[in-house]
Amino acid sequence: MTEFKVSNDTSAFEVPAVLDDKGQLADHCVRQALTMMDLHGLVVLTNLLSDEEADVGRDLMRQTIDDPDRSRSSFASETDNHYLRRDFCSLPSSPPVTRFAASLCQRLQGVLSEYCGRSRPVLEMATFTSYFGSSHQYIHRDPSGVISMFAAVENVSEQQGGTVFVPGTHMYGGAGNRHDGKAYALMELFRTGCNYRIFRHNLKKLWGMRQDPKAPLAPGEFRDRVFSTKWDQHQPNLLRFALGKNSQFSLRRLGPGTLWKLYRNRRALDNLFCLVQTAPRKGTVILYRSDLLHAGPDNRSPHARRFFGMSIARDMIEPKYWHDGYSPHPTLAAHPMSLGDLLDLPTNPAPSRVQNRHQSALVD
Ligand SMILES: [Fe+2]
Repeated sequence: MTEFKVSNDTSAFEVPAVLDDKGQLADHCVRQALTMMDLHGLVVLTNLLSDEEADVGRDLMRQTIDDPDRSRSSFASETDNHYLRRDFCSLPSSPPVTRFAASLCQRLQGVLSEYCGRSRPVLEMATFTSYFGSSHQYIHRDPSGVISMFAAVENVSEQQGGTVFVPGTHMYGGAGNRHDGKAYALMELFRTGCNYRIFRHNLKKLWGMRQDPKAPLAPGEFRDRVFSTKWDQHQPNLLRFALGKNSQFSLRRLGPGTLWKLYRNRRALDNLFCLVQTAPRKGTVILYRSDLLHAGPDNRSPHARRFFGMSIARDMIEPKYWHDGYSPHPTLAAHPMSLGDLLDLPTNPAPSRVQNRHQSALVD
């Protein structure tokens, strides 16, 4: 996106993964990861999965994506899903999928256990694919009280659109007291400013796609994305924008008072917050607090972008609230699983590849 500043430097949030002899994230990495989760709301664990392990995840996802009866997610952008700009679908609780999820949880036990007790439910296991022509999501918070994970099972380039985060905007006791008690108001202003630019970006791109042979619009797609009355919070829908029917961004948020505050606080907002776009290499796993401001960007490349994703609750959660933000596969809804179930599941022992490399580096 050219209309506003997005940093691609994620080095301040990265921890190169080192495994101990049990195949779990080593203690010093756990401590670094927890510090980043608390301070910034996210951590990017590079090289957590070997190429072979990532391939296992990719193959499981492909099986689901190729299944015509797959279970589509009911959030993010249903219009993008409908026009095959995105393919967000939940993964079944089959033994291979559950084993893959369990091996990730076991490796990350030191971090996850700090936030989620063993009895806390697994809210979803899913694949997140986006294609050329998808919309850039508005900056938003997911339902709070959840730890979410994205695992890159193949390299994701900037053009393909790794998740965009606004570090430090997660919510916790007393967080609102920062910046003279204006922290949440300033975050909301920043979000509004970003979403105005995302709205313009999506609209401009969609207009250009009318004559773009690379991603021709399907019959009715332009109308559905710009003038539809259907609920969808991540499209540049002018009708719902004008009617105030989009809770992420609408005319209601852009009154003269807000515009004045945006102008008056422009320097403070620039100093306090920044957008950071991830471009994870294969094997990288991103953990984030669900109430951290973030967005799934559009895919500006001809290559599909795929992630494996999983979310685990940190507390009890109302089913309605759960299903507003997460899409458990019917097999998971019928047989709920907890973090403890995944931690206890037998999986193949992890090779101590990174530990060995780390030890030899120390010797060197
Ligand atoms: Fe989200």
